[in-house]
Amino acid sequence: MTSRPPLPTSTFEVSPTDEDVDSFHELGYASFERITTDDELEWLRAVYDELFAEKTGAFPGGYFDLARPYDAPGQDRLPQILVPELRVPELRDTTYARNGRRIASALLGVPEDTLQTWGHMILKPARYGSETPWHQDEAYWDIELAYNAIGAWMPLDPATVDSGCLHFVPGSHRGPVLRHRHISDDPAVHGLWTDEAETADAVAVPLPAGGTTFHHPRTLHHAGPNTTDVQRRAYANEFQQAPTRRDVAADHPWVTEGQVEWEKRDKIQAALAHRDARAR
Ligand code: NI
Repeated sequence: MTSRPPLPTSTFEVSPTDEDVDSFHELGYASFERITTDDELEWLRAVYDELFAEKTGAFPGGYFDLARPYDAPGQDRLPQILVPELRVPELRDTTYARNGRRIASALLGVPEDTLQTWGHMILKPARYGSETPWHQDEAYWDIELAYNAIGAWMPLDPATVDSGCLHFVPGSHRGPVLRHRHISDDPAVHGLWTDEAETADAVAVPLPAGGTTFHHPRTLHHAGPNTTDVQRRAYANEFQQAPTRRDVAADHPWVTEGQVEWEKRDKIQAALAHRDARAR
């Protein structure tokens, strides 16, 4: 991590209009053409490429393929890095993070300083990056907790229908969390999808690099495979108020099934063993 230049100091501010806020409440998503600077995009691409080249993640097991069983040999088709800011703390200080927080605060109608944030990076490699099937983000989350949250999704390359831009079902955020299942019906595959989605009215939202969409955790969305010759690097950040404990846990058995497989992973076990050895 020595070759990377420092985080650029150039900055600019983006705030949503009242129309953006109304549209978000109506549709369950909103998009912005640009919320970061050219300099910062260059810096983010360098960070991103370093992290994906390392394949180690920001913590043990924090890199994996969303489309195939955990730690399977061979080519990763939809690799993800969780919470990269643990590895590169400057990611918390970007123009993207500041604008993201300001916009998330306005769209949710809550004060900025009540929002926690965490990031993830999802790569769709050129020519063979997998589809991201229809899902709601809340389907991935802790069944014991209730959330007031919004997701920001920024491509670092132009996101087109052919490279894997997001598609949303307008108004789907007002519905319940649908029944999800693991890709290939294998709980050792992290990626989830639902076959209960009504997607006839779905809208594709292509974006230039540095543009961002925001979506509600129940908004149905998907992205196609990347059939282009250019990789599609995306950097997402979730903004949420502190989750509260639910009276009754959500009935999402796929979460529990997936957790069992996650905890079986060698990398997780190695980290736990290392921690326990040090504690002795
Ligand atoms: Ni999602």
